Amino acid sequence: MSRPQPIELVAEALGCDASTLSDDSRLGTHPKWDSLGHVSVVMELEKHYGVAVSDETIRRYESLRNIRELFERLENCTSSFNPRWESEIYGQGRMLNREPSEVVVSFTHTTFPPGYRANRRVLDLGCGAGNNVRFLAREGFDVVGIDGSRTALEVARRRIEEDGLKAELKAMDFGALDFADGHFDCVIDRCSLTHNRRAVISVALDEVRRVLKPGGFFFSQVFSARMADREHGEPLGDGAVDHFRAGYFAGVGLTFFAERRDIDQLYGSRFDERSILHSTDEDGTGRVVSALWNTAWRRP
Ligand SMILES: C[S@@+](CC[C@H](N)C(=O)[O-])C[C@H]1O[C@@H](n2cnc3c(N)ncnc32)[C@H](O)[C@@H]1O
Repeated sequence: MSRPQPIELVAEALGCDASTLSDDSRLGTHPKWDSLGHVSVVMELEKHYGVAVSDETIRRYESLRNIRELFERLENCTSSFNPRWESEIYGQGRMLNREPSEVVVSFTHTTFPPGYRANRRVLDLGCGAGNNVRFLAREGFDVVGIDGSRTALEVARRRIEEDGLKAELKAMDFGALDFADGHFDCVIDRCSLTHNRRAVISVALDEVRRVLKPGGFFFSQVFSARMADREHGEPLGDGAVDHFRAGYFAGVGLTFFAERRDIDQLYGSRFDERSILHSTDEDGTGRVVSALWNTAWRRP
C-alpha cells in the first residue's frame, strides 16, 4: 500500500481539504494550527513515517515542502539513532564541527607515533561533519567514518573532498556495525556513544569489540554524571537523561551521564583498561560546567 503524501496527512489532521494546501503552505500560520492542530499533524506524520519528532520541529520546518523533505531524510535513519540529530541539529546547520577534538589529537599522537600510521584502519564512530575523520586522514590513517545522520555525512564528504583527502563515509547505526570481525586497528568515539540509552551503548560496545583486532585500541569520551546541566532534564532511569528544559543539553538532547561504576561495568567488562581520566571545568562558583570521562582501552 502506498503511503499518503504529507499534504493528505496534514489535511486529515487539520480537518481541511487537501486542495487548500500546497507545498508552500506554512503550518504555523494555518487557522486550525493552534487549536491543537499541531498535535494531530505530528501524530499523523509519526504514525505514517514511523519516526518521532517534536511539534517544535514541525513548527520550525514550517512549509509542507520542508516537512516532506525532513521526513524523507528521517525515513533513511537507522534504528537506534535519535532522529533529533537530523531534524533539529545537523538539519538546522548546527554543530557541524570543523576542527578535530583536542582529546582525539592527543590520543592519536600518544597511541600511534609518526611512522606507525600507514595501513592502520581507524573507525570514527559517530563522525558527524567529519572533523576528526579529516584530521585522521591527514595524519595518514585509513579512515572510515560512520554516522546515522545523512546530512552530517554529506557535509563531511564535501569537506573531505575540498581538502583533497581520502576517507570512507557510511550511514550506519551503532547497534549493527557492518564490518567484518577484527577489521580495525582503532576505534574513536568522541562524545557519540554518550548520546544513546544504556542498552544501545551496551550493544554498540559489543560491536566495537567485535570489529577491533585483538590488541586494537579504543578511545571513548563520555559525559560524566557530575555535569551540572544534567539537572535540567528528565532522568530516564538508566543513566540517560532527556527533555532538557535549559542549559547546554537543551540544544543536544538525550545524553547518558556516566558514573565511574558505569565506565567499569560497560567498558571494563569488555576491554583492557589503558587509562580512565575524569576532567572537570568549574565556573568559579563551584558549578561544574563541563565533566567528561576520557577513556582509552585495548581489545583483549
Ligand atoms: C556529539 S556528536 C559528535 C560528532 C563528532 N564525533 C565530533 O567530535 O564532533 C554525536 C554524533 O553521533 C551520532 N550518533 C549518535 N548516536 C548514534 C547512533 N545510535 N547511530 C549512529 N549515529 C549516532 C550523531 O548523529 C552525531 O553525529
